[in-house]
Amino acid sequence: MPASTAEPWPPSPPPPNPSTTRISIPWSLVAYVPYNDFAALEAKIAELDRDKPQVAAILLEPLQGEGGVNPGDRTYFQKVRELCDAKGILLILDEVQVGMGRSGRLWGHQTLGIEPDIFTSAKGLGGGVPIGALLSKAHCAVFEPGDHASTFGGNPFVCAIALAVCRTLETDNLLENVIARGEQLRKGLEAIAQKHKQWIAGARGWGLINGLVIQEDVPTTAADIVKAAMQEGLLLVPAGPKVVRFVPPLIITESEINEVLETIDRAFSNL
Ligand SMILES: Cc1ncc(COP(=O)(O)O)c(C=O)c1O
Repeated sequence: MPASTAEPWPPSPPPPNPSTTRISIPWSLVAYVPYNDFAALEAKIAELDRDKPQVAAILLEPLQGEGGVNPGDRTYFQKVRELCDAKGILLILDEVQVGMGRSGRLWGHQTLGIEPDIFTSAKGLGGGVPIGALLSKAHCAVFEPGDHASTFGGNPFVCAIALAVCRTLETDNLLENVIARGEQLRKGLEAIAQKHKQWIAGARGWGLINGLVIQEDVPTTAADIVKAAMQEGLLLVPAGPKVVRFVPPLIITESEINEVLETIDRAFSNL
């Protein structure tokens, strides 16, 4: 409570913005569709909009992280953008995992050649310190101060860190490193996939977010590989049951990538 009684407490909510309409959306109205499948998306929208247009937004990751390091398809995303424009649906992208340079560009959607109406960021934005952000184009910027309260949200300490991260991304040419080291890593992972074909179906990803895809028809899981790599001193993380995810620091060096590749090769040879 303020010490002075000059300001009323609690403060009255800001006046509603006359250019926007707010509604709360029940979870029962949230629908899921398969990724990169435009026909499935169109069919779902047709089903939801059968009686009246009610699809407000489509939320996608430019590259699915937890979903198996699954890169978005450029044509799919361009069609989704066109569909959203035609129907007045908001396109929201989740850039929490792939944004802030991890893809080799500042944002994942730059690789897909489209612009979202809204996108989120976190993780890399704070360089290891917790922060989250939501960025919106002016036509759908409806949040007013206080709408999205959070104890530590937007505190000066973490905002100063996020600014330092943004500056470092630019001044230290980190994106160049992400692209070069990403290509080195993917090439190496593809060679390892060839060598251990009995377990690995292939490698995929962008920049420094990559996955080794384990064959469906073998009992080996991503968790088994993560465990074997850990025994060799390499920390990896599964992305679903059959994908081993590689998300090294954006400052990783050429010799460190070689070390990663040698270690993962050893881990497979020891299986
Ligand atoms: C793609 C994606 N979105 C959102 C989140 C959640 O982010 P936060 O913990 O900052 O809310 C994660 C966390 O792993 C994520 O990978």
